[in-house]
Amino acid sequence: MDDTDDGGFSVDKVIGNSPRIFRNKSLVSVGTVPDEERIVGRQEEITNVALSLEDLIYNDVPDNIQIYGKTGTGKSLVSRHVSTKISERAQDNGVHATNIYIDCNANNTITRASRTLYFSIYDELNEKYGLEDQSNISHPPKRGVGWKTYTEDLWEIVDEYYDGLVIILDEIDLLEEFNKLLHALSRARENDEIDTYISIVLISNKTTQFKSDVNQRVKSSMGGSEFVFSAYNAEQLENILENRRDAFEEGVLGENTISAAAELAADEHGDARKAIELLNKAGMMARRNMDETVTENHVNEARDLVEADLLSKSISTLPDQAKLVLYTLAKQLDGRTSTVSTSQVYDRYQTVAKDVESNVLGYQRVSDLLDELEFLGVTISERKGRGDRRGIKKDHELNHRPAIVLAATLAEDPRLQNLESVSSPEDILQ
Ligand SMILES: Nc1ncnc2c1ncn2[C@@H]1O[C@H](COP(=O)(O)OP(=O)(O)O)[C@@H](O)[C@H]1O
Ligand SMILES: [Mg+2]
Repeated sequence: MDDTDDGGFSVDKVIGNSPRIFRNKSLVSVGTVPDEERIVGRQEEITNVALSLEDLIYNDVPDNIQIYGKTGTGKSLVSRHVSTKISERAQDNGVHATNIYIDCNANNTITRASRTLYFSIYDELNEKYGLEDQSNISHPPKRGVGWKTYTEDLWEIVDEYYDGLVIILDEIDLLEEFNKLLHALSRARENDEIDTYISIVLISNKTTQFKSDVNQRVKSSMGGSEFVFSAYNAEQLENILENRRDAFEEGVLGENTISAAAELAADEHGDARKAIELLNKAGMMARRNMDETVTENHVNEARDLVEADLLSKSISTLPDQAKLVLYTLAKQLDGRTSTVSTSQVYDRYQTVAKDVESNVLGYQRVSDLLDELEFLGVTISERKGRGDRRGIKKDHELNHRPAIVLAATLAEDPRLQNLESVSSPEDILQ
């Protein structure tokens, strides 16, 4: 649009004048926890989780559980849904139970996680009983106290008010020092700190590495069952999307729109989050273009954006330096070769680091960061030869198209946006 000639432009001409695409957009927003009738399939998983927690409703000992599976396989959804139901059923039986959900991505230190644990219970009770005015309950700890103060104070109120408690620790692998917290949570009853029955639900996208990082002491005090959620196939994804069709106005979705989104999302590993995002962004694209229907083409157009978005979320927890290394790799693999060696990455990385005025890491550290990227599934690395004076040598390739990786790293690091002279990471995808 020409900024100098605004010939009668008014925002009033924009607002309320785009085609009505969505009727209830929250149904295709991944943050929304859908109602029971929106959940498709997963009966077996729901049953397994429910049976593990069930004893809570009889005021008896529940199991701890661990849930593994790739992203978008319904782990968070199923565990939140079942634990809420369990609390409700317990209440119906006259058993005081509740559940706490901790997103360890947003609460990735032990202090933050313990603080959130404490406040979810405190706030809930405060709303019900006005704890602030009660003298027998100590007031919330001031900021700056150690994590143990929060768990100790948590036990005080939990023991006073609840018979049963479900604690969901989602994306537990992202929590620093999770062993300490798990140990404290799983031992509270044995140590006579509380009489409340607790079930700990651990969720992780990373099976193998997470398990090997759990220490022996925690393993033996946690015990419990393990469930693995498998990825959805295109048909299941299609059913999930069909069941949210009413996110859109009647007649707005083209005939193949839902199946196109389901198929694209099934391509990689059957990720329901990706399927939902694709449909959401396709709708946004249609609206932006003033189109009155959302078609397969909009889904295809939305694809790069959605992939870059999901990737930037999955790399968001990496150190800044790892993002620089990933950016370097994407630049090197953009259109020319399909693999580069650790040494080649390192040589180029040094320039990138200087360009963004960052400190320059040594070869070994960069090689370690490349391993982290592989572990995250962003790259594939293959060891070659015996290495040289610099150390181990590997060849690296990307698991995504370079443009997607570039957009994701730019979204994560504004310095890289400057370097590429773009004003928005999406510009890379044009
Ligand atoms: N079986 C299902 N039925 C309906 N919606 C689902 C189902 N599985 C996942 N979803 C939706 O897909 C998105 C991703 O699911 P989520 O539980 O967050 O996956 P995970 O925790 O395994 O990464 C959420 O918006 C969720 O509501
Ligand atoms: Mg999740």
